[in-house]
Amino acid sequence: TEANNADATETYTVATDNNFVPFEFMNEETGEMEGFDIDLIKAIAEEAGFEINIESMKFDGVVSGMQSGRFDIGIAGMTITEERKETIDFSDPYYDAGLMIAVSEDNNEIESEADLAGKKVGTRSGTTSEQYIKDNHPDAELVTFPGIVEAYMDLESGRLDAVMYDVPNVQYYVANDAAGLKTVGEILQGEQYGIAFPQDSELVEDVNTALQTLIDNGTYDDIYEEWFGE
Ligand code: ARG
Repeated sequence: TEANNADATETYTVATDNNFVPFEFMNEETGEMEGFDIDLIKAIAEEAGFEINIESMKFDGVVSGMQSGRFDIGIAGMTITEERKETIDFSDPYYDAGLMIAVSEDNNEIESEADLAGKKVGTRSGTTSEQYIKDNHPDAELVTFPGIVEAYMDLESGRLDAVMYDVPNVQYYVANDAAGLKTVGEILQGEQYGIAFPQDSELVEDVNTALQTLIDNGTYDDIYEEWFGE
């Protein structure tokens, strides 16, 4: 009966990355994951009327966990790409991003992507940045890392000349976490993030409806303000 359905609150597993500021990261004091994606998926769950269990992992695990159907929902600043759409479903876009370059504060040689030839450029493996560097900068020396923080640390210590990654993460890291780094150049390649699902998931529509409600009622703006407001 309908009454029974209404009582049975479903719980879904949400896969997220373990370190992608300010979208998802561990708050060391509380031991809880927090960030823009975490707040957004919690609000969506509340709006749509289901419970969630958040599990954090490496980004590659989020992608493969969607492909295998191991998790119900993935939220990890994941760019909607044609290639991923062949094996994963996405919600409507929820965040406009793009790629950006960071270099050491005292680097005067690299002012834009035009200066990357022959330079050691780091990024995280399995991301749109890795693909972008392969496609557009075959003459740069690409160095991939399992986590982006390792790339930033190698940039800080001078083992890399540049890091390319998602603009909100680069800007946040440079402003809050980095020692002696700066961003250079323009935003490269516009991208949009989507919430991910195993293919043909019945959740896509419910999540899209809830997302639209949160955009219309100002909740999305409040969450945005909290993480990206001046
Ligand atoms: N947006 C880029 C991509 O989809 C990078 C995402 C990295 N996300 C993360 N949680 N580490 O490839």
